Amino acid sequence: MDAKVVVVGSLNMDLVARAQRLPRGGETLAGDSFFTVPGGKGANQAVAVARLGASVAMVGNVGDDAYGQQLRKALEVEGVDCRGVGICPGVSSGVALIVVDAASQNAIVIIAGGNGLLTPESVQRFDALLQQAEVIICQLEVPAETVAWTLARGRELGKTVILNPAPATGPLPAGWYAQLDYLIPNESEAEALTGVAVTDLDSARRAGEQLIKLGAGKVIVTLGAQGALFVDGQGDRHFPVAPVNAVDTTAAGDTFVGGFAAGLARGLSLNDAIVFGQRAAALSVTRAGAQPSIPYLRELAP
Ligand code: RIB
Repeated sequence: MDAKVVVVGSLNMDLVARAQRLPRGGETLAGDSFFTVPGGKGANQAVAVARLGASVAMVGNVGDDAYGQQLRKALEVEGVDCRGVGICPGVSSGVALIVVDAASQNAIVIIAGGNGLLTPESVQRFDALLQQAEVIICQLEVPAETVAWTLARGRELGKTVILNPAPATGPLPAGWYAQLDYLIPNESEAEALTGVAVTDLDSARRAGEQLIKLGAGKVIVTLGAQGALFVDGQGDRHFPVAPVNAVDTTAAGDTFVGGFAAGLARGLSLNDAIVFGQRAAALSVTRAGAQPSIPYLRELAP
């Protein structure tokens, strides 16, 4: 079956420690528990698309190690088309060292491993996947030139192009904005892109308007417990969320992006796709870990 959604991005093994609080610089802190689960923003988003009812293919890299085999397997069991997942000899798989505190906030260090070797040429080899897709999603855990190539190719093919600018360390290259149908940053990513400190709806609106002026087609700023703000050239709409008992916010953003893309691919309206993504993300934060926390379609109330 042709995949309606193609995710070009990262696969990481997440090494997760839970502790009462995040450690300070130079501090050794006793934690409470440890577990290892498949993650990576790209792979998480692909899993979210698959679990939430749309066909999906992943283009990315793992290393030639045990983590790489596990990461690929984790996608295959969800029905993700993994023909585009390469194995890089002599390189480790991507790894994320994650600490989650008692308030369910996290801090993450990533080691790129094979993700860092995903070249434009290695994506181009799977151009047939891009050609048959309806929606193409990128994040920023693979080389910038690969993201740039994929966004431009997606635009050239007339696909719906989504960029989740995560993790963001500063402004995006100016030429990227015109390639995007949807830019989906969280608060800190919106701030990194615009310089506007995003803390509430007003600041999210200002950041969103700036991103629209830069050329992004439509912007969805995700705001955690404050919901999400959709901004386009016509105005903005707030999508609130009901409060949940948050256990771990890791991959909540990925679940939203994957759910939103799955919604679009399944023919939902824009508003309904946003709400669908939010409902999936809200459920994900009530569970621990990245991919284990992502819900299946059957778990979302009709
Ligand atoms: O967005 C969550 C993801 O960020 C984790 O799974 C981790 O791998 C990092 O990439």
